Amino acid sequence: MNTKLDESQISIVSGGAGFIGNQIIGRLISEGRGVAVVDNFSRGLRAHLDVFAHNSLLHIIEADLSIRRECMNAFDVAATKGRVVEVWHLAANSDIPAGVADPDVDLKDTFLTTFELLRCMKIFGIKSFHFASSSAVYGDLGSTPLHEGIVPLLPISNYGAMKLASEAQASAAAESFLERVNIFRFPNVVGIPATHGVIFDFILKLLSNQDVLHVLGDGSQQKAYMHVSDLVDAMFTVSSSKINEKIEVINIGPVDEGVSVRWIAEQVVARVSPYAKIKYGNGNKGWVGDVPRFNYSTDRLQSYGWSPKLNSSEAIIRAIDEIAIQKGF
Ligand SMILES: NC(=O)c1ccc[n+]([C@@H]2O[C@H](COP(=O)([O-])OP(=O)(O)OC[C@H]3O[C@@H](n4cnc5c(N)ncnc54)[C@H](O)[C@@H]3O)[C@@H](O)[C@H]2O)c1
Repeated sequence: MNTKLDESQISIVSGGAGFIGNQIIGRLISEGRGVAVVDNFSRGLRAHLDVFAHNSLLHIIEADLSIRRECMNAFDVAATKGRVVEVWHLAANSDIPAGVADPDVDLKDTFLTTFELLRCMKIFGIKSFHFASSSAVYGDLGSTPLHEGIVPLLPISNYGAMKLASEAQASAAAESFLERVNIFRFPNVVGIPATHGVIFDFILKLLSNQDVLHVLGDGSQQKAYMHVSDLVDAMFTVSSSKINEKIEVINIGPVDEGVSVRWIAEQVVARVSPYAKIKYGNGNKGWVGDVPRFNYSTDRLQSYGWSPKLNSSEAIIRAIDEIAIQKGF
C-alpha cells in the first residue's frame, strides 16, 4: 500500500517467523506500519525476526493460533499495541507430505488457525483479511490452465483441502463482517529465509552428503516458481487496489511454464557440490499429493498491470545462491 499509515495502526501477521511472513513484515515496516507478528515458532524461527530487532514498529507474540484461548490472548495483546486494522494470514503447515501422513496436521495448522483467526477478527471488529492460499486447491488437472473461475475444486492433498476450506471460511466471514478479503493462491515460492522447499531440501541433503543427491521422483516434475520479492510485491499491489467486489481470489505466479526438478537439481549441484552425482527415484511425483505439472493462469494478476521481475529460472538461480549462503556454502 502506498498510503503511509500511522504507527498506532497495527497489522497482524500470522506465521511471521516463517519464510514468506518474514518478507511481508519487512514490507509493512518499510512502509512505516506497526506489525504484531503471531507465531508458535513450530516451523519458523525467532531468529528470522532478528533483522527487525529493536524496531519499535514490531511486536512479537508467541501463540498457537489453532487454540482458541491462545488466539484470543494474541489479539488482546496486539490490541494493546495499537488499533489492529488488518490480518495477513500466513500461518499453516508447510510440510505437505506430513499432512498426507497425518491429516490432523493440516486440520490444526492450516484450517483451525484460519477458523480461530476469523473468529477473533469478528470479535475485535477487524475487517480486512489477506490470506495465503495455494495452487494446491486446484488438485491435479494436468495441462488444463488453472484459472480462478475453475469449479469444482478437487484438491489431492490434505493441505490443499484445508486451504480450500479456509477460503470457504473467509468467504462466509465476508458475508458476515469482513469488508475486504484477498485470497492469494501462491505458486511455489523461493528465496530466504528458507524453511522448506525443493532447493532447501537439496542443499540440506548435500550438507549431509556432498557426494550424492537423491531426488524424490524422476525429476520430470515441472512447476512455476516465483521469487518471494516478486510475490510480496504482487500481494501489495493487489491489496492496495480498489476493487468492486469484497473478495478477490487471485493466482500469483510468473508468466512462464516453469522449470523441471531435474534442472533445479543440476543447478543446485553446480553451485553447492559440483562433483556430486544426482540419483533419481521413480515416477513423476515427489510424494503423495504432489502435482507433477500444472499450467497456472495469471491473466487476472496481469490485469492489475503487474508483472514479475524474475521468471521461474531466474528466481531459482537467485534463490539457490541466497539459500546456499544462508546454509553456509
Ligand atoms: N512457500 C511456498 O512455496 C508456499 C506455496 C503456497 C502457499 N504457501 C503458504 O504461504 C504461507 C507461508 O508459507 P511459508 O513458506 O512462509 O511457510 P513457513 O513454514 O516458513 O511459515 C509458516 C509459519 O507459520 C507458523 N505456524 C504454523 N502453525 C502455527 C500455529 N498453529 N500457530 C501459530 N503459528 C503457526 C510456523 O511456525 C511458521 O513460522 C503458508 O500459509 C503456506 O501454506 C507457501
